[in-house]
Amino acid sequence: MRVLGIETSCDETSAAIIDGEANTAAVRSLVILSQDVHRVFGGVVPEIASRAHLTAVVPVVERALADAGVARESLDAIAVTNAPGLVGALLVGLSFAKALAWMQGIPMIGVHHMEGHLFATALEHPNAQPPFTALLVSGGHTMLLDVAEWGRYRLLGATRDDAAGEAFDKVAKLLGLPYPGGPHIERLAAHADPHAGGSRYRFTRPMVRSDQRPGDPDYYDFSFSGLKTAVLNAVRASANTDADRAAIARAFQDAVIDSLVEKTARAAHAYERTRIVLGGGVACNHALVAAMGERLAPLGATVYAPSVRLATDNAAMIARAGLFHVQRGERSDLDLDAFASAP
Ligand code: KG4
Ligand code: ZN
Repeated sequence: MRVLGIETSCDETSAAIIDGEANTAAVRSLVILSQDVHRVFGGVVPEIASRAHLTAVVPVVERALADAGVARESLDAIAVTNAPGLVGALLVGLSFAKALAWMQGIPMIGVHHMEGHLFATALEHPNAQPPFTALLVSGGHTMLLDVAEWGRYRLLGATRDDAAGEAFDKVAKLLGLPYPGGPHIERLAAHADPHAGGSRYRFTRPMVRSDQRPGDPDYYDFSFSGLKTAVLNAVRASANTDADRAAIARAFQDAVIDSLVEKTARAAHAYERTRIVLGGGVACNHALVAAMGERLAPLGATVYAPSVRLATDNAAMIARAGLFHVQRGERSDLDLDAFASAP
């Protein structure tokens, strides 16, 4: 089965062709056009994103078809993100997918963006299959899930305020770093010597207490906005921000990672999972992946993280999730709508 995936939920216009059957599906092409224009605003401007998708969607899909050497007549289905995301941005990809599916007389399936992130890692790691514990950490979401099988997802915990990636971006702004901030914080933190200036800063691990028990409402949840305020206070109190920047970035990153790793370990332990699947842009963070491995390996679990290309928003993961649903016989109608949020 050959599926065209389309993703326009935020600031990446992406199209991909995947080929094959469920667990052996291979990425034939993947085109990701990132909208640079938002950098000058320090965040994504929805209306500008929609207009940029409108300009890009046709050439991006055509390039994905050309790269794969595939004619649109030979597509079997189209998978498109229809939630959650910026509604105006989603509508561009969704409307395009509907028109193309109607024209070719092939099925179209709407995909939940976060389910796409769950499938991304399996495209590169054949063993990243359920059952597993999943941690999805992106600019908009922080979700801890137990995945018993594809299509059956139990949401164990989520952020109560800022998403992990959002916290990286906001703290980067406080430290005078460009948007998106995650990679810049990671680079800066790597230069902080924890035994010299680095140890002068230590932030409380948000929502992590040793007396929490399964069943407690905060056992699996996350919170990053208090940590952001702690960083703000540290920056204000610093006599020399330039000199302290790396140490603060390191202390912030350490606190985020500890919180993510602790909750993931709790979930893996409670559900007796031996596979941990990471997804979303923050899963690009090498320190996070390393810390997760160090913590989970002694418990007999293997950690699977996607490459940068598949961790951040891309259409290959949408095509892969769509393939799963289409092979189960599911179809979306042409009146499918776009939604800013979805359960
Ligand atoms: O999944 P993604 O591409 O888009 C959303 O769906 O939100 O995630 C983007 C987020 C941004 O907040 C960015 O700062 C963060 O992922 N990010 C990172 C790193 N690379 C990207 N955060 C921490 N460390 C990184 N290396
Ligand atoms: Zn995403």
